Amino acid sequence: SLTNKKTGTIGLMVPDITNPFFPELARAVEDVMQQYGYTTILGNSDENPQKEKQYIQLLKQKYIDGVILASTALTAEEVHTFKVPVVVLDRVVLSDNIPMVTSKNREGAREATRFLLKQGCRKIAHLRGPVQLRIADERCHGYLDVVEKLEWFHPGLIVASNYDMRQAMQATLELLKKHPDIDGIFAGNDIIAIGAMRAVQLLGISIPEEMAIIGYDGITMGEIVYPELTTMAQPIYEMGALAARMLIKMIEKQPLDTLYYELDVQLIERGTTRKG
Ligand code: RIB
Repeated sequence: SLTNKKTGTIGLMVPDITNPFFPELARAVEDVMQQYGYTTILGNSDENPQKEKQYIQLLKQKYIDGVILASTALTAEEVHTFKVPVVVLDRVVLSDNIPMVTSKNREGAREATRFLLKQGCRKIAHLRGPVQLRIADERCHGYLDVVEKLEWFHPGLIVASNYDMRQAMQATLELLKKHPDIDGIFAGNDIIAIGAMRAVQLLGISIPEEMAIIGYDGITMGEIVYPELTTMAQPIYEMGALAARMLIKMIEKQPLDTLYYELDVQLIERGTTRKG
């Protein structure tokens, strides 16, 4: 029954509408919401905490039944000030009682790095994404878990940039100037992996023969670039759909089976790494 539904509207906050990860996620949320008779309103913060705050203010004033937050900068305290149910999606906000859907970031990053080692890479860099993001930290820790003790490891092999294709391209150009012997790159998401690919190709380095690259996310765009991008895929659609179903249950005052979901990721081998 939809007895607790008041406005039939929910808010979905995403940090960057230009990153295909988020429209793919939003599509899943919207599909489920629509199925249950809810309308989804989208807010995009451009990874800008100020802009995010303004949207949050608005979402709090407008009559909505619940919010799904893929947040840039919100703290648990701020999330607790919402008067409607909230589910945190993808980007972790640490707190004991905020329902959350994310994926196994640290584990996935470990597996991605190990895969590059298995490919025969002897010096692997990590484009870690934004410094302030917890999921970027987790992925970086996963990389460190695998390489920190290896003799070639050097902290200069970890490079921060926003989740931005052009920035990642620049960062990769500079990195490869300093460390020309890098032969593997683990990028913290797919769009920065694509930026890195461009830099590598501009330098005339061949992928995958001289440089192996692996991304993280599994966005459709990765199948279009050349070579096709090897990636650690998150179950993007499943994550969005699960968050939506959790929020509906909360709005309709039904109990949740589980408060925190960390879904499995999956290696998808394509052309930016060698076969077998
Ligand atoms: O590509 C966007 C990144 O930010 C993803 O890896 C996702 O996990 C998000 O937080």
